[in-house]
Amino acid sequence: NGGPRRDEAVRAAVEQGLVGPATPIIGLLDITGIRASAAALRAAFDAVTAPGTPVLHAFAVKATPLVPVLRLLHREGIGAEVASPGELALARAAGVPPARTVLDSPAKTPAELREALALGIAVNADNPQELERLDALVRSASTRSPIGIRVNPQVGGGSIGALSTATATSKFGVALRDEGAREWVVRAYLDRPWLTRLHAHSGSQGMPLELMARAVAETYGLAEEINERAGRRQIDTLDIGGGLPVNFGSDAHTPTYEEYARLLAATVPGLFDGRYGLVTEFGRSLLAKHGVVLARVEYAKSAGGRAIAVTHAGVQVAARTVYAPKSWPLRVAAYDTKGRPKAGPDVVQDVAGPACFAGDLLAEGRSMPLLEQGDYAAALDTGAYYFAHHYAYNSLARPGIYGFGPDGAGGVRFAVVRTPQTLDEIVAESGGSHAE
Ligand code: LLP
Repeated sequence: NGGPRRDEAVRAAVEQGLVGPATPIIGLLDITGIRASAAALRAAFDAVTAPGTPVLHAFAVKATPLVPVLRLLHREGIGAEVASPGELALARAAGVPPARTVLDSPAKTPAELREALALGIAVNADNPQELERLDALVRSASTRSPIGIRVNPQVGGGSIGALSTATATSKFGVALRDEGAREWVVRAYLDRPWLTRLHAHSGSQGMPLELMARAVAETYGLAEEINERAGRRQIDTLDIGGGLPVNFGSDAHTPTYEEYARLLAATVPGLFDGRYGLVTEFGRSLLAKHGVVLARVEYAKSAGGRAIAVTHAGVQVAARTVYAPKSWPLRVAAYDTKGRPKAGPDVVQDVAGPACFAGDLLAEGRSMPLLEQGDYAAALDTGAYYFAHHYAYNSLARPGIYGFGPDGAGGVRFAVVRTPQTLDEIVAESGGSHAE
């Protein structure tokens, strides 16, 4: 349970001065929790797959693009799914080997594809035009890259439109239910013996597990059809993507890998019988619960009868929540000036960020113990797709991030994951190095 560990870490961070008047915002990552998530993922699939089945869990780097996190996950047996040259560079910097790296993205350039094939990382082609580029590359040079096509099973979406990748009109992959598309995919494989994988990622926050399982079933059915028509086991690996939703409302009843793996085993029995190697690409579910943004309350004020805590956590660390508070509400925990959980009667208040627009609110009209000057507000469950979404408005710096774990003597030990962005970096990244 991350709650007590989080409370201890907040207190230690305040005590050790990692956060305070001079450093009013930091990110924290629970290393124990991340390890436990990785172990749970491995165990869940080990429990349902035939012995000896190759399984690669490739962490979706987009969720938390931090090299020490990728290195930690790599040590825990988790590879990397990358979607840009930058993410590939991070995975390589973390020491993730090419054989444990998968490239998916809807807009790969010829140079990116060439680089991927030269390295031997797995590639999922998004569309027919990309496949043509791969045709040319495969003809001109040998590669160890396993290559597949990404399909969109078009099973429907989750509750958040922008995150729904398997809708009828999604921009990702080959839309399987469009006229002629399925037959095109089958022919593409039959014409290209080097296509050995099939990929679909259809999960998204807010999507029922049953719908995710249906998408996997569709993908599996297509692979079976292709292999049957090929008269051999041409597709040897299925990449089922990620997408397990996370419960941001509480720590209870969050879907587990075990639950999902069991549902898959029940829905698609052949998937785990050893005929197919498997790739997964979970992002959010591995990290979300293990991150906290901790920010000092600079001022406590009121307006029109509303209490407002002005903190240092706003759009620069929580753009999604600030711009779409209904889709992405965050739980905010109150800690006192010494970093102890705050008690006291609930007061309706806004928790505001530092940016110069009225909507820069981490929480609006939230009932919680009153935040006062020098207290701390902690935005919970921010381990995935928050540190990834720095927003540079007002030139607010990216905060430093620390990993925390037990120090072996009953206390908390911190390790730097990312140093805070410096003013020099802000100036340089804002064109400061260019002559007039
Ligand atoms: N694989 C592929 C091909 C994906 O597109 C994604 C996420 C994943 C894996 C990982 O999915 P996860 O397990 O994290 O759900 N920016 C959004 C999230 C977009 C996710 C898109 N694709 C956000 O702020 O939540």
